[in-house]
Amino acid sequence: DAPRDLVGRHVVVSAGGTREPLDPVRFLGNRSSGKQGYALARTAAARGARVTLLSANADLPDPAGVDVVHVGTAVQLREAALKAAADADAVVMAAAVADFRPEAYATGKIKKKDGEEPAPIVLVRNPDILAELSADRARPGQVVVGFAAETDDVLANGRAKLARKGCDLLVVNEVGERKTFGSEENEAVILGADGHETPVPYGPKEALADRIWDEAARRLAPATAD
Ligand code: PMT
Repeated sequence: DAPRDLVGRHVVVSAGGTREPLDPVRFLGNRSSGKQGYALARTAAARGARVTLLSANADLPDPAGVDVVHVGTAVQLREAALKAAADADAVVMAAAVADFRPEAYATGKIKKKDGEEPAPIVLVRNPDILAELSADRARPGQVVVGFAAETDDVLANGRAKLARKGCDLLVVNEVGERKTFGSEENEAVILGADGHETPVPYGPKEALADRIWDEAARRLAPATAD
């Protein structure tokens, strides 16, 4: 049975992958299915939390007993995250957020023209939601958790990312075209800003989600009566 250690807590989880539109029919996206984030939402609800799930383009059914907010782009996800985080005890950013978006959006479908080279796609930076949530905590003691999706030098890149983002916990997982994205299983190392490192062996995404809540729960500020 799940521990009921999140009763009275509000947690926010982001899941899925942002899509950055080029025109009405095309976007820049990524391979996130949303499964890891949805597993975090389900396990938090089972542990008694009130859960707000910010879902970016995940083709998954809304989990029972969870408030789901559907978003498309990184800018929309930022807006929803700042709003939901305002009274949250913990925020977990499991969504794969595009670092860049096309500078221009064409209101009509971009056409190919005979004899012409394709126009380059100019990108601009998206806001770094995790860094912003970490720097401007909506509440004292709020626990902020990020993920690092890495293909090379996984642990070294994860440790550097933890320092850069300023979050309390960073879950480092290896990804590839068919690795982690869309699968039912994952393996990771949960890095703590306190230097604590928790390896989680390959297994169901729910099992990793529960280990993340274990680590987040012991860093939560004592519950208040409000
Ligand atoms: O959805 P699944 O198919 O189950 O796959 C799960 C997963 C691989 C998507 C997930 O486990 C995962 O690793 N999610 C984070 C993906 C990601 O964007 O990683 P990143 O290393 O690029 O970003 C680092 C952190 O910063 C993440 O917490 C991300 O949410 C956040 N971020 C990134 C860019 C940005 N502009 N704003 C952010 O908040």
